[in-house]
Amino acid sequence: MVSAVAYTAFNTIPADDGAKRRILRATLPPTNLIRIAPEIDSGEFYDSYVGRQLAVGVNARHHAIKGWLRDAGLRKGHRVLELGCGIGTLTGLIADEVGADGSVVAIDLSPKSIEVASARLSHHRNVELIAADVLEVELAGQFDVAVLPDVIEHIPVEHHRALFERVAASLAPTGFVLLNYPSPHYLDWCREHDPQSLQLIDQSIQADQLLADVYPSGLYLDLLKTYSIWISEGDYVVAVLRPAAAQRVFTTKPEQNPSVVTGLIRRARAKVEFELERRRSSAARRAPRR
Ligand SMILES: C[S@@+](CC[C@H](N)C(=O)[O-])C[C@H]1O[C@@H](n2cnc3c(N)ncnc32)[C@H](O)[C@@H]1O
Repeated sequence: MVSAVAYTAFNTIPADDGAKRRILRATLPPTNLIRIAPEIDSGEFYDSYVGRQLAVGVNARHHAIKGWLRDAGLRKGHRVLELGCGIGTLTGLIADEVGADGSVVAIDLSPKSIEVASARLSHHRNVELIAADVLEVELAGQFDVAVLPDVIEHIPVEHHRALFERVAASLAPTGFVLLNYPSPHYLDWCREHDPQSLQLIDQSIQADQLLADVYPSGLYLDLLKTYSIWISEGDYVVAVLRPAAAQRVFTTKPEQNPSVVTGLIRRARAKVEFELERRRSSAARRAPRR
């Protein structure tokens, strides 16, 4: 039962031997308080979270992530890895985006979420759903895109380095990783003023910590931006990571050829300027000299 929720510092949770409970035993900075019910694990928590996700369905956040994916280079035919897909809300949008020639492998810790995702997305032929811990599941093949939509903040920071190593190892050389997560400032505010809105593990991800975990995997930060979905001051962060090796070849940008319209405008402007100058000089010649 999720209702028996206690607020406690993460590192005060007693150890036990369960594989998934490992997630609950991570050490976090003492200020990073999380909402936790020690008797449940993350998979159980997110099983019970399914009703809420179903009630909300596809929302503005999912569409925003799809937009960022497009901007970063998501194309038809791409092979996408989605980590922490929940009930498949974003999965369906991505599956449509990559089309029949592309595919999505979507993974979530919560078996119930995967069950619901599988029913919701049964009409998609290009989606494979897996119930597993992303820290343990085998990631077969190479992906053009890996996306973590509102997931990284729920995976204990001490596992982030290993997670990025795994993701980087399964990324195509020209691929990219896209993370979407709550703004750490907004999450800190929620921790203080609205703790009921937090999930079982809800860490504030600061950029310095993120990069310290990302760089050893050979990925580099291409984009980091705080943006607004529901809170004017910015409630989310999008980050795009790319394999650093892809940046070892540098080519001069080809000169931009002006389009036909731009060329016509430029020539017309030059004619007008020439005519104005001609009239100015002949008027000056006609003017009486003193
Ligand atoms: C806030 S929900 C986001 C769901 C979905 N991506 C979305 O944007 O609506 C976080 C999801 O991450 C999943 N998750 C958390 N830790 C995970 C792990 N170690 N492995 C796989 N999934 C995990 C949870 O089960 C949950 O479905």
